[in-house]
Amino acid sequence: MANIELIDESQGFVLNDPSEYRPEVKDKSKYRDFRIHNIPDYVEKTYTNMHTSQTLEFSTQKLKDWSKLDKAEMNIMDALNMLNELVDESDPDADFPNSYHAYQTAEGIRKQHPDKDWFHLVGLIHDLGKVMAIWGEPQWAVVGDTFPVGCCPAPSIVFGIDSFKDNPDMLNEKLASELGIYDEHCGLDNVIMSWGHDEYLYRVLKGNSCKIPEEGLYMIRFHSFYPWHTGGDYEYLCNNKDSEMKAWVNEFNQFDLYTKSPDFPDVEEIKPYYEALIEKYIPGKLKW
Ligand SMILES: [Fe+2]
Ligand SMILES: [Fe+2]
Repeated sequence: MANIELIDESQGFVLNDPSEYRPEVKDKSKYRDFRIHNIPDYVEKTYTNMHTSQTLEFSTQKLKDWSKLDKAEMNIMDALNMLNELVDESDPDADFPNSYHAYQTAEGIRKQHPDKDWFHLVGLIHDLGKVMAIWGEPQWAVVGDTFPVGCCPAPSIVFGIDSFKDNPDMLNEKLASELGIYDEHCGLDNVIMSWGHDEYLYRVLKGNSCKIPEEGLYMIRFHSFYPWHTGGDYEYLCNNKDSEMKAWVNEFNQFDLYTKSPDFPDVEEIKPYYEALIEKYIPGKLKW
């Protein structure tokens, strides 16, 4: 079932996905600089909707609903193919499928970390939670950078604290305070994040007894939490385990950040390698 709103919204899923928006510059220091480049309108619109509507109540409800894992049964390759279908339908001009990013991230990791096969698989699957968009979730509840709800937004969030001015939580003294509903250093596991594809895939993998080590699951769960792993904010919510895991999330992130490289991997050639990894770590039909 394709989501009409998503298809009509813009030129396509890949182009319309703020979490994958990267200015086309080679200088690494300029990636994700939302201040100095021309930001397409749809990116700002998605973040405005996100920062207005992702309240504690909304994110908690979404977490509860999607964690039921009662939406579909399919294997990992089905999910990867689903995202490709969406690109075909919504963006006839795109000359590469969505798996381009998945395989490119995976192959980049494989080159640098040849002995960690679970890490290669993390690269391949990390964005599969975006299937929620195909099932009708608005993009502002699927893609983009994530942040904790139930406490004051941090300055490093894209488009800044001002972009939360219409969020009803900001009228609540407790929810608008720095600690909000949390205890200091309570650990990210106890924090409710704005709802998106990171937490969803994490729940899918946990709920289906995935054997990927904890570091890998952690990368998946927090790869879009830029205000933390890149912005340096929210340390007051983190415990020792989060600090240890942060290095892994940052290691992953350099492979997630990509440019439009002409080195498109030969998918048919490398696919059997990844199918074997899926068989090893997360085989068969999964509940989504
Ligand atoms: Fe992502
Ligand atoms: Fe990604």
